[in-house]
Amino acid sequence: MRKSYRIIPRHPTCQLPNRFEGQHVPSPRRVLILGCGYVGLELGRQLAAAGHRVFGARRSAGDDDRVRAAGCLPVVADVTQPQTLSTLPGRFDWVVNTVSSSRGGLDEYRAVYLEGSVNVIRWLSGAPPEAYVYTSSTSVYGQTDGSWVDESSPAEPATDTGRILVEAEQVLLRAAQERGFPARLLRVAGIYGPGRGHLFQQFIRGEPCGTGDPRRWLNMIHRDDVAGALKAVLEYGTNGAIYNAADNEPVTQAAFLDWLAQQLGRPAAPVSTITPTRPRKRGLTNKRVSARRLREEIGWVPRYPTFREGYAEELAALRLP
Ligand SMILES: NC(=O)c1ccc[n+]([C@@H]2O[C@H](COP(=O)([O-])OP(=O)(O)OC[C@H]3O[C@@H](n4cnc5c(N)ncnc54)[C@H](OP(=O)(O)O)[C@@H]3O)[C@@H](O)[C@H]2O)c1
Repeated sequence: MRKSYRIIPRHPTCQLPNRFEGQHVPSPRRVLILGCGYVGLELGRQLAAAGHRVFGARRSAGDDDRVRAAGCLPVVADVTQPQTLSTLPGRFDWVVNTVSSSRGGLDEYRAVYLEGSVNVIRWLSGAPPEAYVYTSSTSVYGQTDGSWVDESSPAEPATDTGRILVEAEQVLLRAAQERGFPARLLRVAGIYGPGRGHLFQQFIRGEPCGTGDPRRWLNMIHRDDVAGALKAVLEYGTNGAIYNAADNEPVTQAAFLDWLAQQLGRPAAPVSTITPTRPRKRGLTNKRVSARRLREEIGWVPRYPTFREGYAEELAALRLP
């Protein structure tokens, strides 16, 4: 049965443009976040602040305090162990999968993203939620010519890890098409925010920075905006749809490093001459990711429209005594 709706003020981390303001937003839901880590905790915080009842799942109870501090109820589940899913407390209206392979190898990728998705679909088929959002990655776009990509662009990654992500997406999309499974996919760009951002941290440590051609485009998104995008897709997304999540301004690696140097009054970063021994997820691609669908169809507006606003906060934090 459909839930009732009420009008609530917009949340600052999901700012809606004028034509979306005042539109009906969902009444409180019972939400499960599988893999309640860097993004999941922020999503939990935003959903709990909006009045939803949120359960945050991790593989062990070690981080329960952080889950509680985000306003969520800690639970334990491992998507690679289906029996642990069936111990979760009851039926959920919304389920989000932000599980990550923790930089694992191919076997872990396959277990977490592909087999994990199969396990979750199977588990939820007895009591399907209204919406299931899966965080995929813009690394599924293998383009190397610097072109703009949107959700209709070919997703043909050159890496084995990328191909596993595409397989996981296909499993979810097939379940949506053939069985009405309420899967919605969010392809997320490189996430940065407090304590994260590989290139930024290399620069701060004074290490040689970057990979490949300095003119290569970077696509980034702040952690809080990933969470805002997930919330928006839960509320307004369409089952079976794919949405890219990236900020409004791709930037070349060289331009980003120059901007950092300027902000910190440091000389330009030494360019890395190291050739990666195994291809990084994004290291060999060169494309600009458009999140126009997310902005125009869902009404999502990033709180940090470009890396400048997002990293200004990280830089300010560095200057604190
Ligand atoms: N980082 C990026 O730039 C980027 C880019 C595109 C997409 N993504 C995707 O965005 C999502 C969120 O990323 P994140 O940075 O928030 O990841 P994260 O901080 O590593 O959090 C992932 C969480 O998943 C949990 N986890 C790991 N294996 C699990 C399993 N088998 N079953 C259940 N939970 C498990 C981990 O907690 P425990 O270890 O305590 O279980 C961790 O808290 C991921 O799907 C990631 O692939 C990330």
